[in-house]
Amino acid sequence: MSEIKVVVCDKSHIQFAGQVACLIEQAAQEPGVALARRPVKEIEDKIVKGDAVIALCEERAVGFCYVAIWEQGRFASHSGLVVAPEYRRSGLAKKLKNLIFEVTRKKYPDAEPFGITMSSAIMRTNSSLGYVPVGYQEITNDQKFWDGCQTCPYHKTLIKMQRKICFCTAMKFPKTQVK
Ligand SMILES: CC(C)(COP(=O)(O)OP(=O)(O)OC[C@H]1O[C@@H](n2cnc3c(N)ncnc32)[C@H](O)[C@@H]1OP(=O)(O)O)[C@@H](O)C(=O)NCCC(=O)NCCS
Repeated sequence: MSEIKVVVCDKSHIQFAGQVACLIEQAAQEPGVALARRPVKEIEDKIVKGDAVIALCEERAVGFCYVAIWEQGRFASHSGLVVAPEYRRSGLAKKLKNLIFEVTRKKYPDAEPFGITMSSAIMRTNSSLGYVPVGYQEITNDQKFWDGCQTCPYHKTLIKMQRKICFCTAMKFPKTQVK
């Protein structure tokens, strides 16, 4: 397999936003995947701001993840983590997650990193970074974050459960370790 580069995005990567949106769209259709679709424009914004990381192989996007800030910098979520099917199970998600975590700690040192996931691969990666499982009440209450779940196939369950629980596990980097 050709070399895969995992890098922090800048404006030179804007050309890959469409490919990333397709990767997310296709992954969201896999059974058992809780992944919200993201519009190309939103992906472009993250890329240009340097708030995303990308895996590239032969000028093709094969992995992606971005950070979003909530409640005036109190929380930082990592979302849109995806790896193209033929590149999975070789540590790529772990590399992407480690890099976006590093970016987050550098750019937003006061924010508490968290994520919600149904993927055991992501839970393992989060645990290796020191994240712990928490209740939904311990992550952001920002309605805009939860609106991001609207395109998830399980959104109806989230609403039915009054946003207290859903299929995703919430995991957070312990506050004691945030500056
Ligand atoms: C989830 C996903 C990003 C994982 O990507 P990946 O590159 O295959 O993951 P990695 O190879 O870095 O594996 C990370 C860890 O999870 C484990 N793992 C990977 N795939 C797994 C699976 N299907 N089931 C259980 N464990 C798995 C790996 O063994 C590794 O564990 P380790 O750290 O103990 O060695 C990828 O499967 C994907 O894109 N899925 C669809 C989208 C999705 O679910 N995104 C997450 C939304 S929160």
